[in-house]
Amino acid sequence: MSANFSHNPYKLAGPARVEINDVAPRDGLQIEPVVVPTHGKVAFVNALSHCGFARIEATSFTSAKAIPALADAEAVMHQIERVPGVRYTVLVPNLRGLERALSCHPDEVNLVMSTSETHNRANLRMTREQSRAQLLAMIAEAGRAGVPVNVSLSTVFGCPFEGEVSVEDVMGFAQTFADAGAAGITLCDTTGMAYPNQVAALCEDFQKRLPDTGLTIHLHNTRGMGLANAMAAWQTGVTRFDAAAGGLGGCPYAPGASGNVSTEELVHMFASMGVETGVDLGALLDVVASLPALVERDISSQLLRAGPRLRTHQPPAWMAEHFQGQ
Ligand code: COA
Ligand code: ZN
Repeated sequence: MSANFSHNPYKLAGPARVEINDVAPRDGLQIEPVVVPTHGKVAFVNALSHCGFARIEATSFTSAKAIPALADAEAVMHQIERVPGVRYTVLVPNLRGLERALSCHPDEVNLVMSTSETHNRANLRMTREQSRAQLLAMIAEAGRAGVPVNVSLSTVFGCPFEGEVSVEDVMGFAQTFADAGAAGITLCDTTGMAYPNQVAALCEDFQKRLPDTGLTIHLHNTRGMGLANAMAAWQTGVTRFDAAAGGLGGCPYAPGASGNVSTEELVHMFASMGVETGVDLGALLDVVASLPALVERDISSQLLRAGPRLRTHQPPAWMAEHFQGQ
């Protein structure tokens, strides 16, 4: 399928290669009304593993009371196939979660806290200060175990409880965790409040202040700006993107949350522009086609319906006769 995209004649205004982390097994399945059985989760992660992703966020080690749908995190991690070249990461909110995660040997752990006080309390039942302290202890603990750490900062582009979030707060948390040894930071638009020039400004600011810290951008398409925001980030040099197959996803503790930017649309956009993602779009679309059976509902993947941009169709049958000889 990538052959369709190989003759792009236009110039690029951003990096020629990007990495995609599919977070659907975590961000997607945490909010689905059905609890997907363990074997279904394992099959989903395994199918994604053969699409060419740099990373897959396979599950989260949260409390079963908070996120009942992912209570089988250990079983998932023990049963998935570890395909060489794919980094398997897991979301972790506290020290208890880190202990559980480390017992499953992830390639990386993705710690999480919110940059807005109210969303942190609603989602993690801790103050930001309590989360900050736990995350610092977790970075040290993961370091002792030799496991690289990424920190996902939620609500950096806006909070559904508080509205605007202070850029200084965002950059302050990013700096703190980078100084403590986090190899990467993810800026998360938890409820799709980001808009393109805001994304560009924050990404530029981040890369200027923390040039040695891997920056990932995590976008939700809640208000239809997901791909526009991804473009804005890419134009500032961002090379790492979270996305969810089928556009699944959302935080159960953020009012109005809905799907992540859809991986297939992001991959298709980059492929159209001639940006290498490493992802096989055909294989990914097969996985997306299997999602309604997995989550027991229709999913509205526009790209699955329309097909890639160079999928052509037979013209109407009457035309051959009507234009005969012309
Ligand atoms: N994994 C499993 N169990 C955990 C746990 C974890 N990471 N953290 C706490 N628990 C257990 C405790 O052992 C305790 O069990 P007990 O009642 O049998 O003694 C119970 O949960 C309460 O522990 P406490 O430390 O008081 O946690 P809490 O109830 O205040 O919840 C979090 C704190 C962070 C664990 C919880 O809010 C959470 O998991 N949030 C994640 C939300 C999320 O993933 N949102 C979407 C992604 S951003
Ligand atoms: Zn998310």
